[in-house]
Amino acid sequence: MSAISLKDVYKTYRGKVHALRGVSIDVHDGEIFGLLGPNGAGKSTLVKIMMTIIHATRASGTVLDLPIGHLDGLRQIGYLPEHHRFPEYLTGTQVLHYYSALCGVDRSTRKKRATELLDRLGLCGWGKKRINTYSKGMLQRLGIAQALMNHPKLLILDEPTDGVDPVGRREIRDLLSELKDEGHAIFLNSHLLSELEMVCDRVAIMVKGKVTMQGTIDSLTNASKRIEIEIDCSPPEWTREAFDKVEGQKMTKLGDDSTIVQPMIDRLRAEQFTIRSVKPVRESLEDLFMRAVDHIDNPGSHGSKE
Ligand SMILES: Nc1ncnc2c1ncn2[C@@H]1O[C@H](COP(=O)(O)OP(=O)(O)OP(=O)(O)O)[C@@H](O)[C@H]1O
Ligand SMILES: [Mg+2]
Repeated sequence: MSAISLKDVYKTYRGKVHALRGVSIDVHDGEIFGLLGPNGAGKSTLVKIMMTIIHATRASGTVLDLPIGHLDGLRQIGYLPEHHRFPEYLTGTQVLHYYSALCGVDRSTRKKRATELLDRLGLCGWGKKRINTYSKGMLQRLGIAQALMNHPKLLILDEPTDGVDPVGRREIRDLLSELKDEGHAIFLNSHLLSELEMVCDRVAIMVKGKVTMQGTIDSLTNASKRIEIEIDCSPPEWTREAFDKVEGQKMTKLGDDSTIVQPMIDRLRAEQFTIRSVKPVRESLEDLFMRAVDHIDNPGSHGSKE
């Protein structure tokens, strides 16, 4: 089964804003998939299309193996919208009941799951309090609890850690990993690149309505793998031949085969150089992201597509 398989999604707002320009995305069953992109890239537009809050100008593909917007599919999705606003006169428990009732969850299941989820999201004891007394991070946790009330096969979270402090973000990350282990597929939008890097199996980078890269972080950064050696002074002349790059006190060899640099290390040691560090390095998600943005602004420069 595929969680999401979208092909050539286009969205033009009011005939002039080309928010999506042929987006294709595949989210496999049971994985955490991160969609990242700068502000205005079209991430929320794509999510809203999957949730039928707006309609695509053109789209094909499936969500949970059903056509986009099929009610049987929507019932099995948990959704956290971007900048959600729950009615402020409701209590936390009432929010959970209200939205899951709309989703068709029966009363006794709602009662049981509301208590469980408030506890799981660190809101134990807050269920009876009105949400206008909640902090921003607490509202966000409540939003995630709300998305889990129908025990969804697929979770779609638009900026789940928005407004949450570092401790809370880590808790949400751990929760997402647990949910994945329990068999939920998770699709999330975020700007927080280092967080996505820690939690996602695969990512797509969207810039100006197009996906420029898609795949595992490992496959996307494979070509950038290298080994860096740092010594305590300027490297000797022979290193310019032996390494791919020599700069300052650092020498770089492309690839991730550490056996290749062993003779160089031996020679440096024999010549009495002090080695400060030997480390494998690869592009971070942030580097990839910057490369994707640069690629759209300067097509034909660099960047890859899978
Ligand atoms: N209702 C709308 N009417 C007209 N244009 C819109 C509408 N909603 C979004 N847009 C435009 O569509 C583009 C994509 O917006 P979208 O909200 O999908 O971006 P995003 O990637 O989610 O951005 P952010 O990271 O800021 O949340 C932007 O240029 C935005 O101005
Ligand atoms: Mg958005």
